[in-house]
Amino acid sequence: MPTLYRDIAEELARQIATGVHRPGDRLPGVRSHAQQRGVSVATVVAAYRKLEDAGYIEARSRSGFYVRARQTIQTIESTAAPVAAPPRPVTGQAMAMALIKAANDPGIVQLGAAVPDPSYLPTNAVARALAGIARTERSRAAAYMMPPGAPELRRQIARRMSQTGGSIPADEVIITTGCQEALSLALRAVTVRGDVVAVESPAFYGLLHVMESLGLEALEIPAHPREGLALDALALALDRWKVAACVVSPNFSNPLGYCMSDDRKRALVERLAQHGIPLIEDDVYGDLGFGNRRPSTCKGLMPQADILYCSSFSKTLSPGLRIGWVAAGGRHRERIEYLKYVTSIASPTVPQLAVAELLESGRYERYLREVRGRYASAVARMSDAVMNYFPEGTRISQPAGGFVLWVELPQDVDGFDLARRALSQGVSIAPGTLFSASGKFRNFIRLSCARVWDARLERALVQLAKLI
Ligand SMILES: Cc1ncc(COP(=O)(O)O)c(C=O)c1O
Repeated sequence: MPTLYRDIAEELARQIATGVHRPGDRLPGVRSHAQQRGVSVATVVAAYRKLEDAGYIEARSRSGFYVRARQTIQTIESTAAPVAAPPRPVTGQAMAMALIKAANDPGIVQLGAAVPDPSYLPTNAVARALAGIARTERSRAAAYMMPPGAPELRRQIARRMSQTGGSIPADEVIITTGCQEALSLALRAVTVRGDVVAVESPAFYGLLHVMESLGLEALEIPAHPREGLALDALALALDRWKVAACVVSPNFSNPLGYCMSDDRKRALVERLAQHGIPLIEDDVYGDLGFGNRRPSTCKGLMPQADILYCSSFSKTLSPGLRIGWVAAGGRHRERIEYLKYVTSIASPTVPQLAVAELLESGRYERYLREVRGRYASAVARMSDAVMNYFPEGTRISQPAGGFVLWVELPQDVDGFDLARRALSQGVSIAPGTLFSASGKFRNFIRLSCARVWDARLERALVQLAKLI
């Protein structure tokens, strides 16, 4: 054992350096590796620990050992000036629509929209649940499921939410058609046309476009790539401008992928409470962290605060189900129920009952345990490829969850122009300016990593690098 484990570690390190094991790959299980080499489990564990200490691999809870992205990766340290720009109306709708339409075109390599490839989704379990409900719940399935939505689904959602902090009653949960509708209803409940809404910068472009359609102005608060929303910049901005609401994704924001600490989440809620401003918390990626523990939510940490919590099953079960929800108490609940009714009467019944079944049976949790590691691997692999192919001066985010990568290109590259040219050659990417209401992030792009890694994808990345 004294030298054997070192030999194994050195051999694996060589294999990693020469690309036999690529970033994001899972190393063989300790037991099977030991059996295959005819050595003890302790020897293989010692070899893996040595590689872990040297930064080659990382252990993921209950999942195994994975190859880490290269050490030469340049990470983004700060993406914006530390103060908020004045509030602005939102633009960029045409490019957003082109990206969204590209997402349904099989001829295009999809690195633009944040939609997982179906191979990451539990499509068999979803199909079985949908078919089962359609068969067993014929009369209910044929009827409207009036707001606030299916009681069994709302109970399951409240039960899961209560595991991330304080208890959330099922009464507070209103089912929506995805998280996009949840955000739209929450904004409509607390703002009127012409109001200013504070958002993280960069922010999810779908949110900015909902705001634009409601006649709201965006007050962009800079966000740190790892720590999240800059609370000092928020404090300065709130002293200066009258703000009607604040929308933040504290867990695995899109596009930066940071996860705010509990202390920073509490400080955010307290700061907004001092000004009487409701928080709209977007937690659509909250179940997709790479760490051991599901992160807390602002709503869970401070259930009595003025928080409208929005999420959906689009990034986990399937975007096509279109099942999301708002959890909000007090005066907001009735208003949101009414707004949901006037917008679309109700969300489809069968998907609501199918999702309730997937939650109740435990299949959702089992699926999450498996897919988190796959998303972490996909991000590691994309990070490595970007650092390999893209020109010097490229820097990337280090997401703590989710499946998107924020890429800073050299100063002279125009991400919008790049996205247009790439699309004309069959590759979709999201240009950075979409994530700002004030034209920031011109030399940034966002890449969705939840794709099947094949020769076509590799070629698309080489093609992108050439265009840059
Ligand atoms: C941060 C964020 N919020 C909301 C949404 C919308 O989610 P849904 O598809 O459930 O409407 C998305 C989808 O990309 C997102 O990234």
